[in-house]
Amino acid sequence: MVALRLGVNVDHVATLRQQRGTRYPDPVYAAAIAEQAGADQITIHLREDRRHIVDRDLRVMRETVQVPLNLEMAVTEEMVGLALKYKPDTVTLVPEKREERTTEGGLDVLGQMDRVRDATTRLKDAGIAVSLFIDPAIDQVAASQLAGATIIELHTGDYCDGPTPAIRAAELERLRLAAIAGHELGLVVAAGHGIDYRNVHEIAALPHVEELNIGHSIVCQAVFVGFERAVAEMIAAMVEGQA
Ligand code: PXP
Repeated sequence: MVALRLGVNVDHVATLRQQRGTRYPDPVYAAAIAEQAGADQITIHLREDRRHIVDRDLRVMRETVQVPLNLEMAVTEEMVGLALKYKPDTVTLVPEKREERTTEGGLDVLGQMDRVRDATTRLKDAGIAVSLFIDPAIDQVAASQLAGATIIELHTGDYCDGPTPAIRAAELERLRLAAIAGHELGLVVAAGHGIDYRNVHEIAALPHVEELNIGHSIVCQAVFVGFERAVAEMIAAMVEGQA
């Protein structure tokens, strides 16, 4: 089994800052602590409405973050332009609706192949790795490869939020099959959304999943134990899940 990497999503540190219009807490500081605690990647989502991460965070983190920087963004001209300007190591293309509380559902790559392929090509030509955040559906996995992505991030929300054990078991099986399909197509397989300290074990045990991007649960745990320990506890839980 490959070692599982942790991408720490620091968006919700910025959510707290934006809530009061202060300069603190600074997600740049959170990213540095996460790195020290062993994070393999820093993930940020620059939303069109700038509700948490703002352009300054991307600009400063591009200079300060030492592990790979993963920018989640919508497939828009504005965002592609910003990615080409700041050159994060990876761009994860996600769907975005203004009213949603968080990213709901994966990107419909199949339904907008030309648009996704065009953005993917432009980003890859600039040396940026491209990941597509998709539902764990085989047709979306295959479409992601056709669009030129080298990484897929499987949306784990339906598993994590599944209301019954039976639904969660079915969703875990979908994730397993999608991960196998992605691997067979030569894609790097990541996963994320809704992962916490309880459900991470089963996700960490999925075949071929190499990276988890986790935000909300780590930021919430940090309120009680501090950011460094919250990240370290998640890494320990991932190792336990893989054992
Ligand atoms: N991965 C992607 C693509 C996301 O959009 C999000 C949410 O911003 C996450 C991972 C992290 O999700 P959570 O905050 O629920 O851990």
